[in-house]
Amino acid sequence: MDNNNNENSSKQKTTFTGNIGYILAVAGSAVGLGNIWRFPYLAAKYGGGIFLLVYLILMLTFGYAMIVSETAIGRMTGKSPIGAFTSFGDRKWLKFGGWINAVIPILILPYYSVIGGWVVRYCFEYLRGNSHAIAGDEFFVSFITDSLVSEICFIVFVLAAFFVIVAGVKNGIEAVSKIIMPLLVILALITAVYSMTRPGALEGVKYFLVPNFRDFSLMTVVAAMGQMFYSLSLAMGILITYGSYLKKDSDIEKNTSRVEIFDTGIAILAGLMIIPAVFAFTGGDMATLKAGPSLMFITLPTVFDSMGFGNIIGSVFFLMVFFAALTSAISLFETSTATISEQLKLNRTLSSVIVLVVSLLLGTASVFGYGIWDYVKIFGMQILDFFDFLTNSLMMPISAFFICMLVTKVIGFDGIAKEVRLSSQFRRQPMYYAVTKYIAPFFLMIILASSIASTLGLITI
Ligand code: PFF
Repeated sequence: MDNNNNENSSKQKTTFTGNIGYILAVAGSAVGLGNIWRFPYLAAKYGGGIFLLVYLILMLTFGYAMIVSETAIGRMTGKSPIGAFTSFGDRKWLKFGGWINAVIPILILPYYSVIGGWVVRYCFEYLRGNSHAIAGDEFFVSFITDSLVSEICFIVFVLAAFFVIVAGVKNGIEAVSKIIMPLLVILALITAVYSMTRPGALEGVKYFLVPNFRDFSLMTVVAAMGQMFYSLSLAMGILITYGSYLKKDSDIEKNTSRVEIFDTGIAILAGLMIIPAVFAFTGGDMATLKAGPSLMFITLPTVFDSMGFGNIIGSVFFLMVFFAALTSAISLFETSTATISEQLKLNRTLSSVIVLVVSLLLGTASVFGYGIWDYVKIFGMQILDFFDFLTNSLMMPISAFFICMLVTKVIGFDGIAKEVRLSSQFRRQPMYYAVTKYIAPFFLMIILASSIASTLGLITI
């Protein structure tokens, strides 16, 4: 590895002012639609308490190992994914590993922002006092199929992320995260307490928190694993990039634990906001609980409306989702910008404009895919669903696999340990080794195989 080069490049980069700024920014990336929209519907669908238990185990083992690897790689090279991988040589697989990590955020940002745009619309409607109209069966579908309105909401969301990026790491990401993250916790607590105190809601709390081993299946593990990667923003170049901004005296191990606690805490709170509310409203109807992606956009507004104070609680809830989604989109934007600026040797502003244009183009395709282009299907999926599948189910396991290979075959465990030990005790080192060398590569291939098999219709997920 060319150390001089790396040092120079990290000097030119903007860095976080301190540990808190870094933790909040990583937590801001991790906490997003994945926690509030995706986690509750997966937990509801795959067994409640047992899903939560499996998720926690995976997060403390796999999640921990992946965060440490990515952060250490980022910090030791001072580069974003492609630069980081190729600092260890110019072998083809290293280049491929870097590229796949770098391309994922560029592909996620557009469709993530489309869903962010949906949240913008919900905020707007609740703030206008339209709780009743949103609760109607038709609202969501007629909204997402209305290409013009959806496109406007999508553009508002992307531009919000763009402006933060142009402001830079310290003024932008850090400043926004410092305000938004604490606010998010307060809003989440208020909503969860409100939801859990509705009549009949306690059954939902039980379903979500108490594991029932009869509900366990292989799919519980596969779904929990995919969700863990998504939720912690793993294998998408994000943590490599943020690690490259991290100072040498920041404790990687402690920061990792803090981010894990924060991310999982918000996911659990989201579960406590949504699942008990659905129980209170439907008496625990399984069909409703398993409604999947529409749980937040269709079922929840109905629940809010039936509870009284629908507009207030709806506004609080969707504002919170908006903030969470925005900080995640910012991290996707930042990583994409860093990659483009590094690879094309362009300045930050120009690079961020390129990311903006690509996002507008691909995002618009996703918006139209639900509306005027709804006849377009890729492998039987709508455009947005296809991008989600491509990035999370196919590219993510491959990219994570390459990170494990980079650690085990090239950097070596000693190299990683040396980097982590600069500022941490690295107490979970033995577990880190076992997971990165044996368990992770095996499980990642299982996820990949099950995703492909389900697309080909060989198994149903
Ligand atoms: N972790 C974010 C969430 O839970 O919503 C989503 C996300 C952000 C995924 C950044 C991937 C990523 F690279």
